[in-house]
Amino acid sequence: MQSNALVLTVAERLDDRGDIMQLTLRGAGDLPAFTAGAHIDLLVETAEGPVWRQYSLAGDPSDRSAYRLGILRDPASRGGSVALHDTLKTGASVHVEGPRNHFPLAEASFSVLFGGGIGITPMLAMAWELSAKGADFILHYATRSQDRTAFLDQIKSFPFAEKIVLHHDDGAGAGPVDLARDLPEAAVGTHIYVCGPQGFMEWVIKGAEAAGYAPANIHREYFSADVDVTGDSFEVECAASGITVTVGPEDTIVKALARGGIKIEVKCEEGICGTCVTDVIAGEIDHRDQFLTEEEREEGDQICACCSRACGKRIVLDI
Ligand code: FES
Repeated sequence: MQSNALVLTVAERLDDRGDIMQLTLRGAGDLPAFTAGAHIDLLVETAEGPVWRQYSLAGDPSDRSAYRLGILRDPASRGGSVALHDTLKTGASVHVEGPRNHFPLAEASFSVLFGGGIGITPMLAMAWELSAKGADFILHYATRSQDRTAFLDQIKSFPFAEKIVLHHDDGAGAGPVDLARDLPEAAVGTHIYVCGPQGFMEWVIKGAEAAGYAPANIHREYFSADVDVTGDSFEVECAASGITVTVGPEDTIVKALARGGIKIEVKCEEGICGTCVTDVIAGEIDHRDQFLTEEEREEGDQICACCSRACGKRIVLDI
């Protein structure tokens, strides 16, 4: 157990529409502050042992009394969400780290939020924060149908309810998201935020790029990624410790280093959370993560060691 983990209590569990469980976590007093877009790491007991999973904070950032989460039961995921759905009861204790924010709001004259399915969670916190600032924004919430739309009952009473546009694939609400209609013209002060299933996110991002949005105005948060970690074998030299290990075709840098006695902390293990980011001294990087920005990739001096690889035969890390 990490010594800086908070132990919080599940004050409320609500099984909502769309296989989404809403959790309210409380502590003895005020919780560490967070800004919209932040997530916490939650320790989950699975059949394979304890794992850390990341969940966006969906509540009002000005409310320090609770962390509010939405967790999709996803049998196709690596087991964390199913274990939580099956075991977590009101009154249970949970271990939490964070909050951390890799998806903060930018200064904008207009913010356009796209939440697909469970991707609504960080968007709700963003809507709370933008609403409190009196900022101009709109939130597009896309689901398959109304009866698969979590948070539906609450959002009707939120102070920004009129800024939420509901989109359902079955044609209800405003119908499916239509980028030709729902994406405003690109402008310097207009920022786009997207979170949800990978296909939905890539579709919105490509649409925004095609509409002329600058990369710095398109913000995204991945919940999970189909990441291929395999490739040709290469060597990793650790400059500080003087150790060199070989990463096999099915291997990762983190696993190869662990065999050599060097531990890199990991959480998501699929290139999303940034926990494993390690400085690179030499060698070209084959980035497989969703965490580093285009600018960071171009600088070429950081690698997500849980999934990314070397382009060539050798890479030198600053560890
Ligand atoms: S452990 Fe999350 S990005 Fe590597």
